[in-house]
Amino acid sequence: MSLTIALNRGRILKECLPLLARAGIEPLEDIHSSRKLIFEASGGHRLIIVRGSDVPTYVEHGVAHVGITGKDTILEYGEGASFYERLDLGIGKCQLMVAAPTGAQYETGPLRVASKFVNVSRTYFEGLGRQATIIPLSGAIELAPLTGLADVIVDIVDTGNTLKANGLEAREMIASISTRLIVNRAAQKTRFDAVQDLIQRLRNVTSR
Ligand code: PRP
Repeated sequence: MSLTIALNRGRILKECLPLLARAGIEPLEDIHSSRKLIFEASGGHRLIIVRGSDVPTYVEHGVAHVGITGKDTILEYGEGASFYERLDLGIGKCQLMVAAPTGAQYETGPLRVASKFVNVSRTYFEGLGRQATIIPLSGAIELAPLTGLADVIVDIVDTGNTLKANGLEAREMIASISTRLIVNRAAQKTRFDAVQDLIQRLRNVTSR
């Protein structure tokens, strides 16, 4: 049985296409040189290319049986949603961190936190018992403390170069991130064999 697989466009897509190819799932035309959003693939599967934050939405609603996206996106969407996280692909490794201007002290008092990850940020500071106002942004988060919009940020840190270039430093780690495969709950039952086959193929080509 074939599967519809939602892929996170951008960096994750670039990294996961070679992995999928090694697992025997290859788009029938070049994704990178096309503006199309749906691609037929070998094995009768279908790939749909969506924004990262939309991957869980497509999987939750069953439009995609399977999705591949970052753990950061899954945490922000909510892990209690109607999909299962089935596999860590071991790519796209980075950290979700709190960062602040280098040397700045924010030990007490309410904090202004800028982030794309509003739910994760809220939950994190609530867990610490720290009063925080979350300021939602959709990109260039590092700008917020520099311009006085926020005290700290919650963002993805990979090499740390972006923080450094903007006079910021990592403070606390919220979560270790990598690319994960999620499966729609119903599809897990109704397309069990196809889902298991995909997971086994991907397992064989990842280090896990
Ligand atoms: C991410 C993140 C940081 C940067 C961190 O942004 O938001 O800005 O990468 O990487 P580094 O530690 O290696 O410098 P991305 O490039 O994914 O773009 P975005 O701002 O659209 O999320």
